[in-house]
Amino acid sequence: MHVKKERVEIIMNNFYFFKDKNDEYRNNILNIQAGREGLFNTIFDLINTNLNEGDTVLDIGNGGIIRCNYKKLHRLICADLFINENVANKYLYIENVSFETANILDLNKFEDNSFDTVIACGVLHHIAGKSKNKTKENVITALLECNRKIKPNGKILIVEDMVYKWFEMFEIIFYPIIQTICKTLGFGYIYQYSLQSFSRLLEYCKLKTDIIPIRPGEYGWFMNLKIPIVLMPSRPFFFIVRKK
Ligand SMILES: C[S@@+](CC[C@H](N)C(=O)[O-])C[C@H]1O[C@@H](n2cnc3c(N)ncnc32)[C@H](O)[C@@H]1O
Repeated sequence: MHVKKERVEIIMNNFYFFKDKNDEYRNNILNIQAGREGLFNTIFDLINTNLNEGDTVLDIGNGGIIRCNYKKLHRLICADLFINENVANKYLYIENVSFETANILDLNKFEDNSFDTVIACGVLHHIAGKSKNKTKENVITALLECNRKIKPNGKILIVEDMVYKWFEMFEIIFYPIIQTICKTLGFGYIYQYSLQSFSRLLEYCKLKTDIIPIRPGEYGWFMNLKIPIVLMPSRPFFFIVRKK
């Protein structure tokens, strides 16, 4: 009963923004990250070079955005709380790509040790909870769930914006107020970690990780606004996490 309530809560947390506005969000992101030197290509290259020919890959929190060359893979499962039907229909006849609903906090529907790689791009800041402790607990659960699903020599590839330390202090001090505002504006609970505290969570989970700063694009995306990157309190990072 308790698990069921938690599942409903995490779905509802993202429902308004990603269920109803998925296409709009997708277009905005692709627009902001466009260009030869843009963030989309940078992330695509980083993810792609870490995938091997014939790999079986789970992209959790896919949001209808495929960030790798699926053609070289044995299988790519694009999983999310919600499926973008428009995108899924485009891949209907591509045999090695499928779209499925799944929750990063409970990946029981997939076999343990079955993926060469799990990709989690831009999803961890969306699994925040009402309290800071709940948020931390959710991220730890998500990391351990992904770890459980990768093969012994598998990897989790994480892409996340990390906020500066001073901004995280602000997030912590004003946690209830910020979350109430986010919820009221329809974004759901959101929490962005600093590199220092996210690294501590990875250590807590005993996950060995390579951390690579990503060259940011010209603009960032914050509270549904396109913001020049110099004004953003965060920078993107790429994490290559090994199975523990
Ligand atoms: C910022 S978008 C990232 C989309 C895409 N991965 C990308 O690279 O741009 C976050 C996505 O995570 C999904 N999401 C949020 N919470 C989730 C959860 N608990 N389990 C799975 N997906 C989740 C949302 O529905 C949304 O599609």
